[in-house]
Amino acid sequence: MRLLVTGGLGFIGSNFIRHMLAADRKVSIVNLDLLTYAGNPANLSDVVGDYGGRYRWVKGDIADPRVVRRCMAGADAVVHFAAETHVDRSILDASAFIRSNVVGTQILLDAALRHKVGRFVHVSTDEVYGSVASGWSREDDRLEPNSPYAASKAASDLLVRSYVVTHGLPVVITRASNNFGPYQYPEKALPLMITNWLDGKDFPLYGNGGNVRDWLFVVDHARALELVLRRGQIGEIYNIGGTHSCTNRELVEQVRALMGINARLVRRVPDRPGHDRRYALDCFKLKKLGFKHAYGFVEALQSTVGWYRGHEAWWRPLKKGGGYQKYYSRQYAARLQGRTAG
Ligand code: TYD
Repeated sequence: MRLLVTGGLGFIGSNFIRHMLAADRKVSIVNLDLLTYAGNPANLSDVVGDYGGRYRWVKGDIADPRVVRRCMAGADAVVHFAAETHVDRSILDASAFIRSNVVGTQILLDAALRHKVGRFVHVSTDEVYGSVASGWSREDDRLEPNSPYAASKAASDLLVRSYVVTHGLPVVITRASNNFGPYQYPEKALPLMITNWLDGKDFPLYGNGGNVRDWLFVVDHARALELVLRRGQIGEIYNIGGTHSCTNRELVEQVRALMGINARLVRRVPDRPGHDRRYALDCFKLKKLGFKHAYGFVEALQSTVGWYRGHEAWWRPLKKGGGYQKYYSRQYAARLQGRTAG
């Protein structure tokens, strides 16, 4: 199977590529990735050595039809990860989110149509459902995105749906809960917490920390995506949830115990505007396809903490970089002044 993966130098995309190349010797992958701030060739340096003959990175933009068409030619299937994903950044400035997540998806869909690609997996998020006070979101629930990020993903999901209905493009959509694991850019809650604590710095906890997230180990996410790629029904949507639902306060305590941190190292900061209280997914459809998680939450969290401990050379340069520093000063200046845009 010749796969076109978009955004394969990011966190989930790189874990998926590593998983697929190891799982199936008949898979070869072209990875179309622009190398934005969240992408990193180091995420796949082991893959280049081990599977170089079956893996190729093309540096390019999914919103550029020429490079997309070139990469699409000869692909049997597409797995589309490329997206701007950080809610806090979308609050500061939503324009990159519209360009990559909406326009980029449309350009990919058009190219997939033109090249008669056999299957297109669109990787989306539970955030499109909005906050659910109780119960679990099902795939046919109404979309009520609350952040500009979530709205851009909901827009792309609807666009994808329209290509199935109007053009018969063989598309499947997945919506995953909060991922964690190796190679996650340290602006997201878990890697930020772990790396700050390794440096004896505070983790900024938004609001009262009562927001609930469902934690999915990225390797299990990659396994679920392989299943949907191979066995998912065309035109269907599959929720991919995790194994552990908890408040951010509880998460802080679990990571603290695991890392053996005695000091408090948590600073309450003003809440994220529009902060969704709770996400929760009903995963009946995925289970019916035969999916079972392979990793328990505690062992996955342990291995993630171990990975960040053992890979300082990966995350330290990212946190020291000018882009990261600039984002953080902007983010907290806005937050502390109660503003939502810079
Ligand atoms: P995040 O990793 O940004 O994922 P998402 O917003 O997509 O769920 O955040 C996870 C949770 O942690 C979310 O409720 C916001 C919260 N959070 C903090 O309390 N402090 C932080 O510095 C960050 C980045 C997130």
